Amino acid sequence: MKIDVISIFPEYLAPLQLSLLGKAQSAGLVDISVHDLRSFTHDNHNTVDDTPYGGGAGMVMLPQVWGEALDSVIADGSEIIILTPAGKTFNQKMAEELSDSSQLIFACGRYEGIDDRVRQHYSHSEYAARNIRVREVSIGDYVLGGGEVAAMVMIEAITRLIPGVLGNPDSLAEESHNSEGYLEYPNFTKPQEWRGISVPEILLSGNHAEIAKWRSQQADKRAKDNQ
Ligand code: ADE
Repeated sequence: MKIDVISIFPEYLAPLQLSLLGKAQSAGLVDISVHDLRSFTHDNHNTVDDTPYGGGAGMVMLPQVWGEALDSVIADGSEIIILTPAGKTFNQKMAEELSDSSQLIFACGRYEGIDDRVRQHYSHSEYAARNIRVREVSIGDYVLGGGEVAAMVMIEAITRLIPGVLGNPDSLAEESHNSEGYLEYPNFTKPQEWRGISVPEILLSGNHAEIAKWRSQQADKRAKDNQ
């Protein structure tokens, strides 16, 4: 999977080279490139934003600059993801859908966001015919300073679903076994007693059917408690 991230703070995305993702890149499973939005400007000040038509606070990011940046990485089958708190909320199901894509392009907005004509332009049928899709995505109901951290959250959730990225693929199989896809039961390891708290007896019983039943009940209880 090819991943392109476009941002005015490319250094912010340095953690993408670490840990599991660093290994996945060395193994050739994912190929992540970070692009500096300002390198697509043509003025001396490397301007990326301007005041909003209609008035109001804040600045809006320029469509020309975003258009050039996106055109430089777009290919047939690209998924363009515009990070914005106004987007559709990211979840495990969306992570699974996106994990099949050949290329993800993350457009990290700052300020009051990106001129909406960028979304409109890449939604045109000419792009749809090339299987290029654009979507606005939020990672939750809160406002961040920009889309960079949101892009990192999505990249971590999506890439761990690519076969070969996780060290132990059984972890994924277990996640998909339970009904919500990711809500898990509580886990315990050694020692059997810690600070006066014992591991639940059932887990020591060796009765796999009863253990599976107990874990499923515990996962359901957790899901209810979190509502
Ligand atoms: N940019 C600012 N807030 C955001 C959020 N919650 N999700 C995605 N991008 C954002």
